Amino acid sequence: MAASQTDVSAISDALRQAAAQADNLSISQLLMDTARVQKMTATHQKLHIDYSRQLLTLDTLHNLHRLADATDLRAHINAMFAGEKINSTENRAVLHVALRAPKSASIYVDGVDVVPNVHKVLTDINAFTDKVRSGEWLGATGAPLTDVVAIGIGGSYLGPEFVFEALRMHPPAVKAAKGRRLRFLANVDPVDVARARDGLDPATTLIVVISKTFTTAETMLNARTMRAWIVDALGPDAVSKHMIAVSTNLPAVQDFGIDPANVFGFWDWVGGRYSVSSAVGVVPLSLQYGHDIVSEFLAGAHDMDQHFRSAPFDSNMPVLMGLVGVWNSTFLGHATRALLPYQQALLKLAPHIQQVDMESNGKSVRLDGSALSVPAGPINFGEPGTNGQHSFYQLIHQGRVVPCDFVGVIKSQVPISLDGEPVSNHDELMSNFFAQPDALAFGKSAEQCRAEGVPEELVPHKTFPGNRPSSSMLIEELTPFTAGQLLALFEHRTAVEGFIWGINSFDQWGVELGKVLAKGVRKQLQMSRKGASVSGFNPSTSALLKKYLAGSVS
Ligand code: F6P
Repeated sequence: MAASQTDVSAISDALRQAAAQADNLSISQLLMDTARVQKMTATHQKLHIDYSRQLLTLDTLHNLHRLADATDLRAHINAMFAGEKINSTENRAVLHVALRAPKSASIYVDGVDVVPNVHKVLTDINAFTDKVRSGEWLGATGAPLTDVVAIGIGGSYLGPEFVFEALRMHPPAVKAAKGRRLRFLANVDPVDVARARDGLDPATTLIVVISKTFTTAETMLNARTMRAWIVDALGPDAVSKHMIAVSTNLPAVQDFGIDPANVFGFWDWVGGRYSVSSAVGVVPLSLQYGHDIVSEFLAGAHDMDQHFRSAPFDSNMPVLMGLVGVWNSTFLGHATRALLPYQQALLKLAPHIQQVDMESNGKSVRLDGSALSVPAGPINFGEPGTNGQHSFYQLIHQGRVVPCDFVGVIKSQVPISLDGEPVSNHDELMSNFFAQPDALAFGKSAEQCRAEGVPEELVPHKTFPGNRPSSSMLIEELTPFTAGQLLALFEHRTAVEGFIWGINSFDQWGVELGKVLAKGVRKQLQMSRKGASVSGFNPSTSALLKKYLAGSVS
């Protein structure tokens, strides 16, 4: 990819100059320019985004598009879709888009079309989950398996939980899930084990162990713990009926004792945090909701993939969101951003996107190993509105500047209107969705406070600086299809930003060091439980370990 370094430098300089002048811009004034507002929106099917509340002129937007061109964004996107090994530090293709490609598509990795295998696994999953749901597949006592515990962590947990929650109150999903329960077990904390199996009966429970590597310490201990729960209650032969797996590591699954016939595979070109559309998400979600609903979800993700791949950049939602992200992070220097869905069904969107984005773009070096002048990706956090308003919005209104992404839904999955109430419950929720971006943008001046009769000593406390950037996204309805679109939209935003920054968004070496150090601590704990003294740690860690082993802080 031959990005012109000279162009990139010149355009970056222009953007830096614009950023240096950005304090002179007023979002409230920019918003009065109807042509600009119209230009700073994009609609794709039932999704609409308005990014006119960004601290961004049309000139700067134009320069961001030039930056995308100069950094060969289109070529990077094409390389990803073509199965090139763009995850260079692991020598892997990045093909989560192949997981939702239709049967008719062909995508090659090392000369092999991966699409037929994707569809073979989907067919196998459908056959298996149909059997469990219909009661054809029974547990060791002959009882139907109505409950599922999905064990997995990180990418093998967060995406599936996001989709599970997004659809929980979607009426067709409610119907499809009648009589079934799905729980997730991620943390190695025994409290999470207790919570996951609270009220469940081993005789009616299916355990799905989800791990790409099948070596992740937390998942493996939780899998052994749940296997012991099954075996204690039902005997060792019950494992083949009550435990299945999703993994790329078939030998390790077999060693664990799960019947290879009950393992659903995926491939090294699926990154953990991009794996919800693989068996990682499809198995637990199909067990809960059936494969028709999961197929709609995959179709939605595929639709967004197509939009990302082919829409011109000035109407391409992931590209536009990525350009805004680069502007806010690199040029305006905002280290954080908030994802604020006004929709309780999206309560796990921010935790999932936290991993997608921060594990992908939390990098300090470029692809060639050279250091970036500032770290690439921002800190992502979020919480559904209006809950967040009663938690951290104080800070985003009067404390630090945090660019916000608001997400609202037009039709509620479960509308409620009370007699005598002026608006429906959903209208009440959405009133806040529309109000907050304006409160951030317009703020409230000292003069306005005084005009309202605010005592002088309280004026500084009641003033809102305003000029705080946000984007607002409207979704017509939260369905399996739009949940898939939303997922892919945020996945691709992260890719766009990473491509422009010139980093590898698809490796995650930063998670390794802590895992290695935990091994040393685990060994020390084992030895100390047999009487060995603590040694080889720094004074702080030694002292903490000794207190832990002594069972007392004194
Ligand atoms: O520690 C981070 C990580 O490697 C993630 O990238 C991954 O999603 C998660 O752990 C779980 O890994 P696995 O699916 O191999 O258990």
